[in-house]
Amino acid sequence: MGDRLIIKGGHRLEGKIEVSGAKNACLPLMAASILSSEPVELERVPDISDVRIMVKILEGMGVTVEYDRQGHMFIDSTTLNNTRAPEDLVVRMNASFDVMGPLLARHGCGEVSLPGGCKLGPRPVNLHIDAFKAMGAEVIKEGGFVKAKTPRLKGTRILFPKVSVGATKNSMMAATLAEGVTTLENCAREPEIIDLAKFLVSMGAKIEGIGTQTLRIEGVSKLHGTKYAVVSDRIEAGTYLLAGAITEGDIFLEKIDLNIIETFVLQLRQAGQEVIEENGGLRVIGHRPIKPLEISTAPYPGFPTDLHPPMAALLSLCEGISIIDETIFDGRYMYVMELGRLGADILVNGRTARICGVPKFIGAPVDAPDIRAGGALVLAGLAAEGETTIRGVRYIDRGYQHIEERLRSLGADIVRVTEPLTPLP
Ligand code: EPZ
Repeated sequence: MGDRLIIKGGHRLEGKIEVSGAKNACLPLMAASILSSEPVELERVPDISDVRIMVKILEGMGVTVEYDRQGHMFIDSTTLNNTRAPEDLVVRMNASFDVMGPLLARHGCGEVSLPGGCKLGPRPVNLHIDAFKAMGAEVIKEGGFVKAKTPRLKGTRILFPKVSVGATKNSMMAATLAEGVTTLENCAREPEIIDLAKFLVSMGAKIEGIGTQTLRIEGVSKLHGTKYAVVSDRIEAGTYLLAGAITEGDIFLEKIDLNIIETFVLQLRQAGQEVIEENGGLRVIGHRPIKPLEISTAPYPGFPTDLHPPMAALLSLCEGISIIDETIFDGRYMYVMELGRLGADILVNGRTARICGVPKFIGAPVDAPDIRAGGALVLAGLAAEGETTIRGVRYIDRGYQHIEERLRSLGADIVRVTEPLTPLP
């Protein structure tokens, strides 16, 4: 069954919500549980479909997972009885490939299909594979699967030719149980990587340089259980800050530290929006005019590519012309056509979007093509004159938990309807 969201725009959003645990931290933490010789417990696990996919992938390998909708999760990977990740699930989510490093490190073998996920352009895993090979694994690609095995991974020096969140995660996890010391250079430094490193250290891993571009991991013989609370989701937080800005509202986000979203907040302030740090969270007060910006996405601590489409929704109403240069994903511009249906005036040339501000959005039916484009369409719908229907909500549900309930609690007029499957001709 397909769902759709129906939004009647024009309502100022006011009130407070608690920022969820981060999707992009929780997923690798779940994968990393494979490394542990004892059960682990997670807190603040978001209730999103990507988490449910990762649960099914772990269970498909025999891992025991218990969780509730309040964010508690118990994972016992001592029951793991096969090292082949279920292909039909892995192709649905890029983060599925995070299980490969832990499988290799703990069990000496793994079979994981080449991952799928958001169509943001090619999602290669060559940097992951090169790192596993450098640590002594035999890795082949066969029939759409990556198959790897090793008697035991060996520590070595790895210099990543480009910054990759995924390759940094997988290599760090693999190195925790390798023989000897692994040095990873030119690492990604996202807060979700810091959270994964802290989680591994809480299990007994020896990791130095956390938060820098160089990680030094001394392999240990085994990792023990732990209880860990997932870091807040800076991408969800940024999206809700934009909801406050685009509706000229006043929203307080609990449990988000400015220091993990600072570049974005600085840009939002430059766009004429008020963002105040208070009581362990962030308050946004939306204003007009929205001032134009020139943004270039970059690895952390640069402007996050995942907030490019949501920010483009706000800048579609700017006074003048804004520019967004996308340096991470070729396919990030899927949102442009859909925002255009709501009245946005965006021209894409190569990896640069030129956003010519328009006075308002006019509600219309649109289709969410990926998670963050979906977030952008929700934002535009909240500000639009009239009614916006968003199809493809399954993408939005991958990254934003309980989105309609949370927006309604802030005063939005938004409902979810389950779309009957239209029989194919
Ligand atoms: C992670 O994707 C996030 N996903 C993405 O968020 C995020 O946009 C991205 O990092 C950048 O911040 C998760 O954490 C689950 P990369 P990932 O490896 O790990 C190329 C969302 O909406 N590359 O840093 O795939 C790659 O093609 C999602 O929550 C290689 O060439 O990002 C891309 O151009 C979308 N070879 C660039 O590097 C490789 O082996 C960055 O990819 C790996 C990556």
